[in-house]
Amino acid sequence: MMIKGKARAHANIALIKYWGKRDDELVLPMNSSLSLTLDCFYTETEVIFNDDIEKDYFYLNNNIQDEAATKKVSDFLDLFRNSAGIKSSAMVKSINYVPTAAGLASSASGFAALAAAANVASGLNLDNKDLSIYARQGSGSATRSIYGGLVEWRRGISGKDSYAVPVDDAKWDIGMIVVIVNPKEKLISSREGMKRTVETSPFYTSWVESAEEDLKQIKIAISKRDFEQMGLIAERNSLKMHATMLGAKPPLSYWEPESVLVMQIVRELRKEGIPCYFTMDAGPNVKILCKLSESYKIKERLTQSFHEEKIIITGPGPGVTIL
Ligand code: DP6
Repeated sequence: MMIKGKARAHANIALIKYWGKRDDELVLPMNSSLSLTLDCFYTETEVIFNDDIEKDYFYLNNNIQDEAATKKVSDFLDLFRNSAGIKSSAMVKSINYVPTAAGLASSASGFAALAAAANVASGLNLDNKDLSIYARQGSGSATRSIYGGLVEWRRGISGKDSYAVPVDDAKWDIGMIVVIVNPKEKLISSREGMKRTVETSPFYTSWVESAEEDLKQIKIAISKRDFEQMGLIAERNSLKMHATMLGAKPPLSYWEPESVLVMQIVRELRKEGIPCYFTMDAGPNVKILCKLSESYKIKERLTQSFHEEKIIITGPGPGVTIL
């Protein structure tokens, strides 16, 4: 027997962040979050269940992966194998499409594409809601990559109702500029960083309360298409997440001097009347939420301090696609 499936999924950047789990095994988040799916960053993955191979193989960008990376994929595929009653091993081939020099390896697009491909190959044919529940168990942020545009991941009360819902297709004047400050892999993974923050930061409960409130407010701003409010809420939410990390023991900081430089440029541009807002995740790169129609003007300003190749403009992207 040999059955296969292939799918593409796009990365997403959270405007209201997910930073902390209440259940590590099921990947249940402490708070709901909201993100923008990006057009320019995506992963294509093929899953082939094959009776003729004795173990799982995982190729990323045409390179065979080590045992640890393969185990993550195997464990994830087991969710599908167990539900579908499949006993075969799998060959998994995955390509990350990210603009050169970006170095943004994304677990969100990775696990969403793997889930969508396994969904086809296993014949489970889950709908998008259930697919996001499966993707979640690979990586929290992957929950949101099932859909395009602006997407909410509802924290839920159990493993069965913590999933993503589309909020807005974002087909208005919205763009994002990714500024690559340092393409190297982060030293402390999101998984490890958020665990430390939950366990040791005295600010953690305030973070959760305030993120839930930010989510309410940003959804109101989105429904009114109030770009300025949306950006201000997102920027503050990101700063609050990083403030919470600074309170961890030992403290956690992903910023580099050039990250702060981008923040300063964004604030200057805003003073000049250009609405743009920064957000940062578990790494030094900075993403700028802006109007797509003004992105070239913003890029021009950034090129005074950064090499053109390090500044990537992208629009909103679509949800998972079967290939
Ligand atoms: C800062 O989804 O990578 O990007 O669930 O442990 O795999 P795991 O973590 P991951 O964390 C993402 C954290 C973030 C914020 C966000 O995307 O919401």
